[in-house]
Amino acid sequence: MIKIENLHKFYGTGESRTEVLKGVSLDIQDGDFMVILGASGSGKSTLLNVISGLEPADAGTVFYNDKNICEMKDAEITRFRKDIIGYVFQQYFLLPNLNIDKNVKMGADLAANGDYRKLIEAVGLADKVKKYPHELSGGEQQRVSIARALAKRPQVLYLDEPTGALDEATGRMVLELICNLQKEIGFTMVMVTHNQNIAEMANTVISMNSGKLVEQYANDNPKSAYEIAW
Ligand SMILES: Nc1ncnc2c1ncn2[C@@H]1O[C@H](COP(=O)(O)OP(=O)(O)O)[C@@H](O)[C@H]1O
Ligand SMILES: [Mg+2]
Repeated sequence: MIKIENLHKFYGTGESRTEVLKGVSLDIQDGDFMVILGASGSGKSTLLNVISGLEPADAGTVFYNDKNICEMKDAEITRFRKDIIGYVFQQYFLLPNLNIDKNVKMGADLAANGDYRKLIEAVGLADKVKKYPHELSGGEQQRVSIARALAKRPQVLYLDEPTGALDEATGRMVLELICNLQKEIGFTMVMVTHNQNIAEMANTVISMNSGKLVEQYANDNPKSAYEIAW
């Protein structure tokens, strides 16, 4: 379980210092599919960055099981991120000098996963493995980044707007793939999205506004990627 308590995060210094997370508390159950909704600038990406150990919190605690990641030393945080976390960045962050196969292999190698080519196929990019990120469209790069994160077989997968660059058909296909893998493997998944319809696929939905959690509810009957409106 991930237990977030009274998390605060500031950016900037002096006059430009602003509080981006204003005391967020939240429990994320193992195996949950949580969707985070909220307007642009409400702190969704910052929340994911802090709870995944990418950025330090200014106050508050984030427990992963019995470990407070806010108190981990750098080496321990690096190991936690490597062993536990998968992350699909809003800006993809593919490695520009590696081809698509090698980008996904990077994730796979962290989990000694020899089976990663299936994932490249599953996101519909089997014919692009030799290409480099700059030769791909935004939507294709997004799919590579999703395949890379899944190839790592994380225990917790954070996805920041993973369908933002995808058209409807590709978005549904990728969401279906992610959800099927989650059911099969059982990892915990937290997805930030602008698409309110995707919230109907989640078990738990939270909304953020100006750095605060303003709503949380459970879905008793989550829908599949092909049952939601788009
Ligand atoms: N590295 C940063 N330095 C300064 N301000 C930042 C930084 N990252 C985010 N912010 C600000 O924090 C607020 C929340 O950003 P973000 O978490 O990216 O929101 P969201 O993902 O909900 O759109 C915004 O006002 C943004 O401008
Ligand atoms: Mg964001």
